[in-house]
Amino acid sequence: MCSGLEWTVDGFDFRIRELDSDDISEVRGMVVGCLYKILFMAFKGLFVKNWRTQIVLSGLTALLLINIGYDAQYITIFVLFQTCLLGFTDAVSFYCFFAPEITTFKKEIVNADKTYLKFWISEVFEDGEWKKVGTAALHEPYQLDKCEFQTGEITSLKCVSVSRDWRSKKMGTMLLKYALSQATLMNYKAIILRVIEEQPTAVSMYKKNGFEILKVKNTACLPLLYGINVYVMARNLG
Ligand SMILES: CC(C)(COP(=O)(O)OP(=O)(O)OC[C@H]1O[C@@H](n2cnc3c(N)ncnc32)[C@H](O)[C@@H]1OP(=O)(O)O)[C@@H](O)C(=O)NCCC(=O)NCCS
Repeated sequence: MCSGLEWTVDGFDFRIRELDSDDISEVRGMVVGCLYKILFMAFKGLFVKNWRTQIVLSGLTALLLINIGYDAQYITIFVLFQTCLLGFTDAVSFYCFFAPEITTFKKEIVNADKTYLKFWISEVFEDGEWKKVGTAALHEPYQLDKCEFQTGEITSLKCVSVSRDWRSKKMGTMLLKYALSQATLMNYKAIILRVIEEQPTAVSMYKKNGFEILKVKNTACLPLLYGINVYVMARNLG
């Protein structure tokens, strides 16, 4: 018996239940893997947003150096150096924005059953056993994200992820709705989360489920290059 939620879709049995200590190492692998994929998406997003600007800047630098009279090989080395330095600085600025969160997360996930207010896993029954395919958790919101609510009135949604093979089957929506209903039962008045714009599926899912963008933070530290937009989204409960 499972104390969470059970349902069947297309002949598959699914369930959501609370994490227990035996699940932690497998769940840690799932969530950390997902986190690194999100980081990769963000770095890819930085590249896609900035490659045109980098080409224009390289062209301008090359023209300037040609006018000054530098040799082609020095111009090439300088332009390559400039491009790498700008790209690296932009990426590091994004990483620094998330580094404290990643460090805290890696520490907390080891004791996920204690450090999170609630931690749920979703499973599918396949080949005679329950396989873990998704996660969602509630946590105390970081100071940075608190808004007009008092501590204890607002909770933070974390670790929402579904394994790639099981996406687009409403598992994410089920986890989200379940987390919202449980947070309401726990008497929270609002729920907050952070998501980067490079996760359009997640942003769309949150919007469809009543979340609105409260703040947009941009990780850019250089005026010429774009950073990543981090959305702080929230919705009222109850
Ligand atoms: C975000 C995530 C949890 C969604 O899980 P999922 O099980 O695929 O979601 P659902 O099937 O419930 O779909 C939810 C909504 O996402 C969008 N969506 C789902 N699959 C999509 C696809 N292939 N393309 C575009 N949008 C899609 C739709 O808006 C959908 O709602 P709709 O079917 O009512 O139109 C999953 O994609 C994931 O794990 N992503 C990586 C981790 C992540 O981004 N987590 C969020 C961190 S804050």
